[in-house]
Amino acid sequence: MLLEFDDQDGLIRDRALLDPNYVVEEDRIVGRDKQLQEVTKMLRVALGDNRPPNLFLYGPSGTGKSLITKAVCHNIRRICESRDIQFGTIEVNCQDLDTLGIAVYELVQQAADAAGVPVEVPKHGVATKEKWDELYRIVNEHFDSVVFVLDELDMLVGRRDKQEPAFSRLLYQLSRAGANDELNAYISVVAISNDTKMMESVGSRAVSSFTPEDVHFDDYDANQLQAILRRRQDAFHDDVVDDDVIPLAAAFAAQTHGDARKAIDLMRVAGELAEREGDNRVREKHVRTAQEKVEKNRVLEVVRGISTQKKLCLYATAAVASQTEGGTARSTTGYRVYQYLTDALDADQYHQETYVNKMKELTTYSLVDFERRSHGPSSGMFLEFQFGERPETILETLREDSRIEAISESEVTSVVKAQIRNQT
Ligand SMILES: Nc1ncnc2c1ncn2[C@@H]1O[C@H](COP(=O)(O)OP(=O)(O)OP(=O)(O)O)[C@@H](O)[C@H]1O
Ligand SMILES: [Mg+2]
Repeated sequence: MLLEFDDQDGLIRDRALLDPNYVVEEDRIVGRDKQLQEVTKMLRVALGDNRPPNLFLYGPSGTGKSLITKAVCHNIRRICESRDIQFGTIEVNCQDLDTLGIAVYELVQQAADAAGVPVEVPKHGVATKEKWDELYRIVNEHFDSVVFVLDELDMLVGRRDKQEPAFSRLLYQLSRAGANDELNAYISVVAISNDTKMMESVGSRAVSSFTPEDVHFDDYDANQLQAILRRRQDAFHDDVVDDDVIPLAAAFAAQTHGDARKAIDLMRVAGELAEREGDNRVREKHVRTAQEKVEKNRVLEVVRGISTQKKLCLYATAAVASQTEGGTARSTTGYRVYQYLTDALDADQYHQETYVNKMKELTTYSLVDFERRSHGPSSGMFLEFQFGERPETILETLREDSRIEAISESEVTSVVKAQIRNQT
């Protein structure tokens, strides 16, 4: 009863419409007709034509890649149900998958879920081949056609000692299994990535069996973002959103790169702020406060998504900044700490120039900034890095990575202190 009352009293009527993982109905999707059409070509696979089965969807974050894929798979499922075709979507997000073996196990698990059967292979302690066999068995026994969705595939790098990245081996195996007799269902593989260059690092074996059609997702402009938000305005009760709220949220989101997720996040956070303040309307000031909050979270997201090498560069630099007054770090000192970290992990070690370039690349996320400096004739030139966030927040976030977590924090601190003392 109390909950019901709270619901009515709040400003938000339907939270799902402001949830980035919720798949909205097609009439709420704006400006992606071409992509919808191209991805719908997968339909032909489900309906028994195995010709153009693979797709590579690429574009910046928040441009609708996951949404469009999910919406199309949803449509296919409906059609297949009406035609009595056993259709399955086997979807994995590769962001948190470390190795090929783990990724294949995840596919097995998703396949078993989709089929409603138990997994009959252990997660650890068996060869990846046995996991592949289990995947083929489940798919062959339960499905006529399957779409494999490999979201954020570029994140599946795998072990360093392998010549070919894990995502490339995954693509090779999957697309080859479809062509061989290992899988008798019709299969289609959809690879999704932020990284336009991902296909360049796919090995030649995989390229010749995967051969996807490319579908590009470009940035939204402020008008498109406004349209996207207006189609979701009924997430709020009638007449509680000030007129300038949607244009402002769209403008903020367009400033970075036209990210619909950010635009929707801004609306949600602004709404929640207004509710918490007990305001009876969502106002421009709520959007401005939301912008500050969302920006901060976004930076933390960036930190979670970068490559291990970039993480090590960033960790070294932030560790130095956390121990200096004013929170800055010299590139020369940061590089020595980076060397310590790569030695500790037995990881590849870049030259100082590459380290500096990796750090410079991170400035595009407004995470860190730098100035060129020299302290007297004997010290030479160096860059001085300055963080937009507290270095401690960055270190904490980076320690979520199990490899970095394995390095002793106190040892890093003493190395950092020694290196700072050595600065001339
Ligand atoms: N054209 C659109 N119309 C309506 N909503 C959209 C549109 N594009 C994206 N969205 C919404 O924006 C949010 C982000 O979209 P989505 O998750 O599809 O992005 P993405 O391209 O997969 O991003 P990432 O690369 O970060 O995974 C979701 O809430 C989605 O519903
Ligand atoms: Mg996505």
